[in-house]
Amino acid sequence: MKKMLLTGSAVGIALAMMTAPVFADEDADLLINGEIEITVRTDAPPHMENVDTIYSGWVFRSTETQALEMDDFENPGMIFVDDAIEAWETVEGTEGKSCADCHGDPDGMAGVRATYPKWNEDAEEVRTIAMQVNGCRTEQMGAEAWKYDGGDMLNMEALLASVSRGIPVNVAIDGPAQSMWEKGKEIYYTRFGQLDLSCANCHEDNYGNYIRADHLSQGQINAFPTYRLKNAQLNGVQSRFKGCIRDTRGETFAVGSEEFIALELYVASRGNGLSVEGPSVRN
Ligand code: HEC
Ligand code: HEC
Repeated sequence: MKKMLLTGSAVGIALAMMTAPVFADEDADLLINGEIEITVRTDAPPHMENVDTIYSGWVFRSTETQALEMDDFENPGMIFVDDAIEAWETVEGTEGKSCADCHGDPDGMAGVRATYPKWNEDAEEVRTIAMQVNGCRTEQMGAEAWKYDGGDMLNMEALLASVSRGIPVNVAIDGPAQSMWEKGKEIYYTRFGQLDLSCANCHEDNYGNYIRADHLSQGQINAFPTYRLKNAQLNGVQSRFKGCIRDTRGETFAVGSEEFIALELYVASRGNGLSVEGPSVRN
């Protein structure tokens, strides 16, 4: 995967990108626990105009970071999955119910993660998986909503992702979800901040290049939540979006805002065909 640096572009000037020596094995394959095959590269979905092949962010990480995700005993994110299994079985709220009372074993959720964000007919809205979990908590259990991208929610998202690992992301972008998808696409190509950079400037035009010491990926979200070595905790999709916009020195949207829900739907759809991979490990 060799790409030309766009010399003279805003990115080149503002951030002094360089093609650094290869620290990552971009051709590596990901097999978790010797049995779960993860698709980390595949043909881009038809709606993507400027990219032929999509890659999981795992491909761009160092060999050491890559290795942490190949075995659940090495993956620090898996501890949070255990916490969520406990929460899954815990009765909470006025209805005296646990997730398990209605949904059985967490394995019964296999495949669900791959389809989110998704249109919810009753609520008449596009829901991220966090919104759906909170929908169940408030409407089905009579319990308090969990904080968006807070610890309890990210643990549960890690559990829901873990039982879908290896299943291809398959987010619907037509029908009632289409207008949100278009809104998300518009945001993806909007330039933000003093650096005047869009998501696409970094993650579409420059993936594979280095931004200071960081090897730029396509900014895919198939592998969320991610355990970051940098902050030693699980990180949610929209908090990551927020961090990226902040890096452009721009005003960002709130986690849970309509803008970020739309952006999450759009970015998820750019990963249609990659495997669900969370909880993943990133730097
Ligand atoms: C009283 C029963 C009940 C409880 C308790 C409950 N749910 Fe649900 N859940 C439902 C129903 C009914 C649906 C499908 C209808 C809908 O979309 O809201 C659903 C849908 C879901 C979905 C989406 C499934 C899909 O195919 O899209 C997820 C994820 C989910 N629940 C997670 C949870 C979690 C996590 C908990 C515990 C915090 C929980 N639920 C507690 C009844 C429940
Ligand atoms: C100035 C360049 C830049 C811009 C603009 C930018 N990002 Fe990023 N982004 C990065 C860097 C650097 C990383 C960390 C390395 C990597 O995974 O690419 C990153 C990481 C990510 C990740 C994590 C990927 C993974 O596999 O863990 C996602 C998701 C992401 N960005 C989405 C976005 C979105 C959506 C936007 C637009 C709102 C955006 N980024 C704008 C530089 C940028």
